[in-house]
Amino acid sequence: MTQSRPTQVVDLFCGVGGLTRGLLDAGLNVVAGLDLDLNCRYAYETNNAPSRFIHADVNLIHADSISSLYAEDAVKILVGCAPCQPFSKYTKKSSKTADAQWALVSSFRKLIQQIKPDVVSMENVPELIHHGVFSQFVRSLKRLNYEVSFRVMNCADYGMPQERERLVLLASRLGPIAFPEPDPKVSKKTVRDAIGHLASIRAGGVAKNDGLHKSCKLSELNAVRIRKSKPGGTWRDWPVELRAQCHMRKSGQTYPSVYGRMQWDKPSPTITTQYFGYGNGRFGHPQQHRAISIREGALLQTFPESYRFVQDPADMKYATLGRLIGNAVPVDLGKVIGTTIQAHLGQIKPHSK
Ligand SMILES: C[S@@+](CC[C@H](N)C(=O)[O-])C[C@H]1O[C@@H](n2cnc3c(N)ncnc32)[C@H](O)[C@@H]1O
Repeated sequence: MTQSRPTQVVDLFCGVGGLTRGLLDAGLNVVAGLDLDLNCRYAYETNNAPSRFIHADVNLIHADSISSLYAEDAVKILVGCAPCQPFSKYTKKSSKTADAQWALVSSFRKLIQQIKPDVVSMENVPELIHHGVFSQFVRSLKRLNYEVSFRVMNCADYGMPQERERLVLLASRLGPIAFPEPDPKVSKKTVRDAIGHLASIRAGGVAKNDGLHKSCKLSELNAVRIRKSKPGGTWRDWPVELRAQCHMRKSGQTYPSVYGRMQWDKPSPTITTQYFGYGNGRFGHPQQHRAISIREGALLQTFPESYRFVQDPADMKYATLGRLIGNAVPVDLGKVIGTTIQAHLGQIKPHSK
């Protein structure tokens, strides 16, 4: 009977814990997160206790080591979000290394075949649907008698202040598992809802009360450019003399979505690993003349404001935190996934396995 069994989750590729935090918020018991990057440990453990961080390579770990993390009678849930870079439309050039990266999705599949968890969830970029590795993943689950559903979810449709499309797969050996539909009557969360309350800071400045509400310095040229950038606009709003050489060339015309500002009353664009840089996307603050701060990106990814990413904010590195926060599953998407799994388990009629 599922009702009387403890429910336990293991999070592969746990990062700083966006998915884990959301699952915990949905009331699931996440016992451990595994990741290869030791930079994740502090944030993962500090914000998600008693779930523990295990430093491990998912390509190499033995299935028994993961199985032993669950109680014997547990309803076992295995979730994983293999790194998405090879499939992202922003990183097509890295396709040379894609084979190696696809291996992680395959490693996840092989672990499922051996562990046979009751419920599985995978999150990735939508482009993954078009790759054989995904069809193979789905076929393998079906052969193991999982009911499999997947869909592309836009976070903005599910109450998050960010346009971010993600492929979410849910599979269960206990019965069909249905996705929640977005409620069209609920108005979208906006950039203002997420970051409008934070203190004003300057480019290169940091807030007194939060060492992560810190924004990158701007070059002299970019400091002039951002004053000419309109919310929701692009470099095309600038006078010609401020445009870069690459904007003048024909090829540059195809990249209008850099040097943009966010709009207060819309969800933000997708927060990428480079969100702290004004020239890297539409990452300008809607009003202040700077890129969004590390904390603002984390809030748009729906991490709680109290989430601690580093022990000492004075030691924080933009590139490291940008990568960890930009790669995270938004906490509230994790919560939607967790709530869906909870509802599924609640519907399962008592039966012996
Ligand atoms: C997309 S991020 C996961 C984000 C995380 N689920 C969250 O919500 O914060 C992918 C993670 O996979 C980790 N990773 C990459 N290769 C790995 C491997 N071979 N074994 C374990 N983790 C790996 C990276 O360090 C990164 O943290």
